Amino acid sequence: MARTSDIEKAAEVLRAGGLVALPTETVYGLGANAEDPTAVSRIFQVKGRPPSHPLIVHIGDAGHLDDWVEDVPPAARLLAERFWPGPLTLVLRRGHRVPLEATGGLETVAVRVPDHPVALALLSAFGGGVTAPSANRFGSVSPTTADHVRAELGDAVDFVLDGGPCEVGVESSIVDATGETPSILRPGGVTREDLEATSGRPLALPATSHIRVPGQHPSHYAPRARVVVVEPEKVLAEAELAQESGHHVGVLLPPTLSDVPVKAHAMVAVPASMAAYARGLYGFLRELDQRGCDLIVASLPVEEGLGLAIANRLRRAAGPRSTV
Ligand code: TXA
Ligand code: MG
Repeated sequence: MARTSDIEKAAEVLRAGGLVALPTETVYGLGANAEDPTAVSRIFQVKGRPPSHPLIVHIGDAGHLDDWVEDVPPAARLLAERFWPGPLTLVLRRGHRVPLEATGGLETVAVRVPDHPVALALLSAFGGGVTAPSANRFGSVSPTTADHVRAELGDAVDFVLDGGPCEVGVESSIVDATGETPSILRPGGVTREDLEATSGRPLALPATSHIRVPGQHPSHYAPRARVVVVEPEKVLAEAELAQESGHHVGVLLPPTLSDVPVKAHAMVAVPASMAAYARGLYGFLRELDQRGCDLIVASLPVEEGLGLAIANRLRRAAGPRSTV
């Protein structure tokens, strides 16, 4: 775990224009000084991410929000007060301090206050905002431990702050709060139900396509192995068929089937609790990759609570690879 001296060192690296991998409650981020366009541009190089893909600015205190954005509608203020620090990102009008490099040229900016003691200590020691996407190569599985970051990015990062395994395990929920009525751009660590309870109204979600509709979900959050997402009752048949046709099949098995023998190369019985499933999800995908699977058959969870974010990530992992 990170010590005080590590946090001071990391803050120093940020001040010098370097990149720091930092733990958050969701996934590890690849951080740079949000106000340093050169440092921000390095994030895109290291990740192999198109420069048009905007980043999230992490700040240490909800009270500093107005330093980073132009206008905070009441609905956004309400969400920030209720969920920060926490796995919620608000998209608002860009303030002057945020360079266009960080927003992919947009006049809006995504901001959040992470709920992790090491991230908050770093933000406090550094004093500014830290832009950080997930600390993985573009399109691949987000890291939930410091070892994942080291394995994937190695020397490309100037300093890795180790804050232990991430508690939430899937990325923050992103809410467009520029208008009067907020809408959900990405389901994540704060559930839709909780966002709606605080907002006092239903929130629109992006169109969720059905399984295997081509072209809708370019691959993201993806392991090396190809991913197929199916309803729980079809998992066994799908896995068996693929295994018999010569694949090394890895299975994310629903808890209801955890005692059933599976004809597959490797399997992980996913936890019954959605919080535990979310926490483990990216680790399970990495594990099946490491065990040599070339095809992962994943059971679709019920899309409520954290199940909505898990299903979203599985579907995107299953998206067509060529259109990234
Ligand atoms: O939990 C998280 O959100 C993690 C941790 C590190 O904070 N970060 C993360 O960052 O997931 P990243 O870069 O992998 O995903 C950020 C998402 C992108 O899909 C991007 O399109 C969206 O945020 N985003 C950023 N700025 C935006 C904006 N101005 N308008 C709409 N979407 C935006
Ligand atoms: Mg990411």
